[in-house]
Amino acid sequence: MIKIHNLHKAFGQKQVLNGIDLTISDGETICIIGKSGCGKSVLLKHVVGLLDGDQGHVEVDGKNVIHFTKEELFSLRRRVGYVFQGAALFDSLTVFENVIISQWEHGERDTIALTQEAQRVLSAVGLLPASSAEGFAKEWAILRDKKPSDLSGGMRKRVGVARALVGSPDYVFYDEPTTGLDPVTSEQIDNLIAELSSTFNMTSVVITHDMFSVFKIANRVAMLDKGKVRFEGTVKELLDCKDTVVVEFLERYV
Ligand SMILES: Nc1ncnc2c1ncn2[C@@H]1O[C@H](COP(=O)(O)OP(=O)(O)O)[C@@H](O)[C@H]1O
Ligand SMILES: [Mg+2]
Repeated sequence: MIKIHNLHKAFGQKQVLNGIDLTISDGETICIIGKSGCGKSVLLKHVVGLLDGDQGHVEVDGKNVIHFTKEELFSLRRRVGYVFQGAALFDSLTVFENVIISQWEHGERDTIALTQEAQRVLSAVGLLPASSAEGFAKEWAILRDKKPSDLSGGMRKRVGVARALVGSPDYVFYDEPTTGLDPVTSEQIDNLIAELSSTFNMTSVVITHDMFSVFKIANRVAMLDKGKVRFEGTVKELLDCKDTVVVEFLERYV
């Protein structure tokens, strides 16, 4: 479970988070919505310790992550996969290298283990058949050495998701996973998010401005506005909500 309580964050004069309270339960898929620049990415970065709050606290499985040591952050990041906005792959690295980079950076040099993990996560996101399937070795040989520039936008996104699944995290955060994709590819990525959440029983937190995604995958929705959680509830409650700020937001995006 993730508990965010009274979280404040300013950049210079700009108060971005102004007392965020939000609880994310195990196994749910929660979508975080809100205007561009309202602090959605900043909020999630606090949960993985990429940013430190000015006030308040963020608990992951009962531990306050603010002011975590380096070692504690490393173990936290194994439990929280992060799919960054854009595909955020390294252009000069191959698919294989992109997927296992965090393990490599933390000193893992066991080629067999790295290969098996890369194959597992790339199969999970549908870029490879199951490892037992016929033709697997051939497909792996082709995929592993491809560079991001050889891949379509949807495939790059899948590689980004695969990287987040390395180490079997309990939580996966997706930052605008369908932005920049065509509608068909967006729907495939939505399906993938839903499928992964149920297959691996993961808790998924999805930042999106794509209301089709919200309707499709969310168990719960939180809308940020002026540094606070303005709305929290199910999709049905969102659609029934009479709060003018929420209604105006939905009118713009639906
Ligand atoms: N590292 C940073 N330094 C200064 N300002 C930042 C930083 N990160 C984000 N901001 C500002 O915080 C606000 C919220 O950003 P962000 O969370 O990225 O918005 P979004 O809701 O679109 O994800 C924006 O005004 C952004 O410019
Ligand atoms: Mg953002």
